[in-house]
Amino acid sequence: MNETRPHAGLPRPILGLEASCDETAAAVLDAEGRILAEAVFTQQEEHARFGGVVPEIAARAHLARLPGLVRRVLEEAGLSVADLGGVAATAGPGLIGGLVVGASYGKGLAMGAGLPFLGVNHLEAHALTARLPGLFPEPPAYPYLLLLLSGGHCQCVAVEGLGRYRRLGTTLDDAVGEAFDKAAKLMGLPWPGGPHLERLAATGDARAVPLPRPLLGRAGCDFSFSGLKTAVAQAVAKGFAHADIAASFQSSVAAVLADRARHAHAMLPEATALVVAGGVAANQAVRAALAAATPLPLLAPPLRLCTDNAVMVAWAGLERLRAGQRDPMDLAPRPRWPLGELAIPH
Ligand code: KG4
Ligand code: ZN
Repeated sequence: MNETRPHAGLPRPILGLEASCDETAAAVLDAEGRILAEAVFTQQEEHARFGGVVPEIAARAHLARLPGLVRRVLEEAGLSVADLGGVAATAGPGLIGGLVVGASYGKGLAMGAGLPFLGVNHLEAHALTARLPGLFPEPPAYPYLLLLLSGGHCQCVAVEGLGRYRRLGTTLDDAVGEAFDKAAKLMGLPWPGGPHLERLAATGDARAVPLPRPLLGRAGCDFSFSGLKTAVAQAVAKGFAHADIAASFQSSVAAVLADRARHAHAMLPEATALVVAGGVAANQAVRAALAAATPLPLLAPPLRLCTDNAVMVAWAGLERLRAGQRDPMDLAPRPRWPLGELAIPH
């Protein structure tokens, strides 16, 4: 089909779509991966009064917002769908309603314009973000370590090449962002509580409340946060000042993450960098602890590229397009899609 178009064969821009959780996003990159346009609609307000993401509301909001966002980024990039070289959409893991909305919309655009379609793994997209051209003076060489610290994911991954990922550790209970949100909720802060908790912590004493540091020193790099959450609940009940609890909680989390990063480095001594992604990467105490944890350079993409976005989806799509991948139109979105199942098809 490509042969029938005037620009067939020339490297062309790519459109990326993200709708796997509570951010609706679209972005256009040029053929080299430079960002031409990006837009994110955060559904936070829709979900805030429920204290968490409601899947049905998320899916409807994606459906309502995605077409407008796509129009906007194409307009901003000065392109029409026919100018693109491919469409990439997150196809998992995530909430199935949103995945179906994003992937179906992407397939429709691709099919209508005779373009290749790529169903992107959301975790891979986070993992490859650090390689976006221009983001860092040098993109990290493989292998590097990725700490994915978000509200839904908490993993440590060895990124060994495109499609080659090894999960070194994961959470045994809550994701780290979830732990921030639950601790914040116990102190009466609004959802999502991470940023509120960080602000409150700045006014407190991190040594005032004795809190556990789950798995600290334990082999491997798994995580656990539910015991910490219980301890926060007890500290609240005992009447400790909330600012002191927040500061102590944050310092426990930072210490645990630093310890896990050290273990991850020991598991992958040839790593060239420690890359962080996910909303919790915004936390300054966490960043400082991770920067000091290993001799590796700590690469933290700007926050808008750490949290859910479509630039990362377009970039992962572009890398796979370059590797010769094309996904079939009957590709089914996968609510669960482990990083280990991403080898490039031949
Ligand atoms: O990556 P992200 O935007 O997406 C999802 O997981 O959907 O991560 C959101 C999480 C929330 O749990 C939020 O409370 C947390 O990241 N977060 C923070 C901070 N900013 C966002 N946690 C601690 N400190 C922050 N400054
Ligand atoms: Zn994410």
